[in-house]
Amino acid sequence: MTPIRLGVVGLGLGRWMVETVKKIEGAHVVAAAENMPARLDGMGGYRAYEKENDLKLYEDADQMMDDESLDAIALAVTPKHRRALIESAGNRGIPMLIEKPWAGTVKSGRELVDLCNSFDLPCQVEFPIRCMPAMVRLRELLKGDLGKGWMANANLMMGWCPPPEAQHWDPENHNGLLNECYVHLFDTLAFLLGKPKSVFSFGGSFRGRPMPDAAAAVVEFESGASASLTCGGIGAACADGGHLLDIWTENGLARVTGTQWLPDTLEWALREANKSTVETFHAPERMTLMEYNMRAFFNAVRSSAPVAATPEDGLIATAIAMAIQESIFTGNRVAVEC
Ligand SMILES: NC(=O)c1ccc[n+]([C@@H]2O[C@H](COP(=O)([O-])OP(=O)(O)OC[C@H]3O[C@@H](n4cnc5c(N)ncnc54)[C@H](O)[C@@H]3O)[C@@H](O)[C@H]2O)c1
Repeated sequence: MTPIRLGVVGLGLGRWMVETVKKIEGAHVVAAAENMPARLDGMGGYRAYEKENDLKLYEDADQMMDDESLDAIALAVTPKHRRALIESAGNRGIPMLIEKPWAGTVKSGRELVDLCNSFDLPCQVEFPIRCMPAMVRLRELLKGDLGKGWMANANLMMGWCPPPEAQHWDPENHNGLLNECYVHLFDTLAFLLGKPKSVFSFGGSFRGRPMPDAAAAVVEFESGASASLTCGGIGAACADGGHLLDIWTENGLARVTGTQWLPDTLEWALREANKSTVETFHAPERMTLMEYNMRAFFNAVRSSAPVAATPEDGLIATAIAMAIQESIFTGNRVAVEC
């Protein structure tokens, strides 16, 4: 297996990536860039982090790209900081794994898709859930015995709701919690049901945040399928999770459960069956939840296999988030346009 030398930019969520890669054979984080090194003070400081993780730290990401012979780079920065890094990596021919949410607006997201497509390189969005074994198996069943999805009911609620001054509410950055966190759910539904067409949503700022912090929505898909969903930051961290998704299909139904981001059980049945089938899967741990996504990315870098989630997939999930937000504000059904 060709070894992958990875560079990581941004050491917030990027630290989870550093830990995740330790679980993946044939891949190593050889360098990381963080332009706010004080961020690592709580971890014994810059040099201690470097030593502990056997990597070289840079403050300047371009310098890292010039000095290290990287096979790939992970851009673990917020939407506002992505464009310049994508240009830098793309112009140097370095394949990219790019964090979600894809962008803060559909317009800026479209521009980033075009930019990525201008490079002949693997560019994958970090959507861990669609790569987890339970979801991969469910999609296989939808393409096989269960037939196509007709209706779904999905839930992803968390106790975590950033304070009003956090960057997550900045319209120039994540542009709200629904886009920041729940693109994970919107992407999972698009992965299973195809291209979204329109959205109708209720919701609000229940916890007094500047933008909606929870939503109850229905998404219509081009295939004729529809999904109802609840998501947001109104859960309770100690008891969040459990039920993730029910889906009713041409030939039966399937149900996915597990702690919220980490599905480990798939129950499914054909409509005329006497008994359901229960399959259990390995779910990654919370802080290394991107394990399967990263494995898929490294395979794409090695073999030119298609990436697991394209920039277009990232844009679609953000377009759903924006349509949900707009529907809450206007009280109208909103077309998902991207
Ligand atoms: N996949 C997941 O489950 C998951 C979980 C949490 C966060 N995220 C996403 O990861 C992204 C990053 O989130 P975060 O919480 O770590 O954000 P953050 O702002 O806390 O951390 C990003 C770090 O990147 C650094 N940075 C920005 N531009 C840089 C550059 N050009 N060179 C070097 N360093 C640079 C910043 O100084 C900052 O320390 C967000 O888009 C977030 O939504 C994903």
